[in-house]
Amino acid sequence: MSSIPTLHALLIDEIKDLFHAENQLLKALPKMGKAATNRQLKAGFSAHLTETRGHVTRLAQALRILGLPAKGKPCHAMMGLVEEGAEAIATKGPDAVRDAALIGAAQRVEHYEMAGYGTARAFAQALGESRVAALLQATLDEEGDTNKKLTAISEVVNAEALAAGGEIAAPKKSRK
Ligand SMILES: [Fe+2]
Repeated sequence: MSSIPTLHALLIDEIKDLFHAENQLLKALPKMGKAATNRQLKAGFSAHLTETRGHVTRLAQALRILGLPAKGKPCHAMMGLVEEGAEAIATKGPDAVRDAALIGAAQRVEHYEMAGYGTARAFAQALGESRVAALLQATLDEEGDTNKKLTAISEVVNAEALAAGGEIAAPKKSRK
């Protein structure tokens, strides 16, 4: 067990965690994009990959401001979420249903990141580390936007998944 005696040390711990998490995503997102069938979803994964590179850069900047090298520590939460993503990639069945599974996995990642960045930003604010807080906020905003885009894509994909699985409900018959 590592000792975390101060809020400052806890901020560093959180940022290192996020650094490792984002680096895992750099490897996972291309695989998810490749597995996606819906063009909007493929484009979404590709855009998120580009953004994620920027997120890694911001975290490296934050660590530099705190006098530290750009190095993370294992983020077990993201490891699990990436495994869930791999499960979605391997889903057998209609393409649209797999796409729906991929969006689910991607949104779990987004929500985890939003929670992580929100927590770290709050620590930075409490410590008066305004430059670090601003970097974390910038990424938090982007994660929120990505999550909204995924929600919009999911409406189309879910409808496609319903049709692909033959689950579209027949129009209700009027009762006598
Ligand atoms: Fe990110």
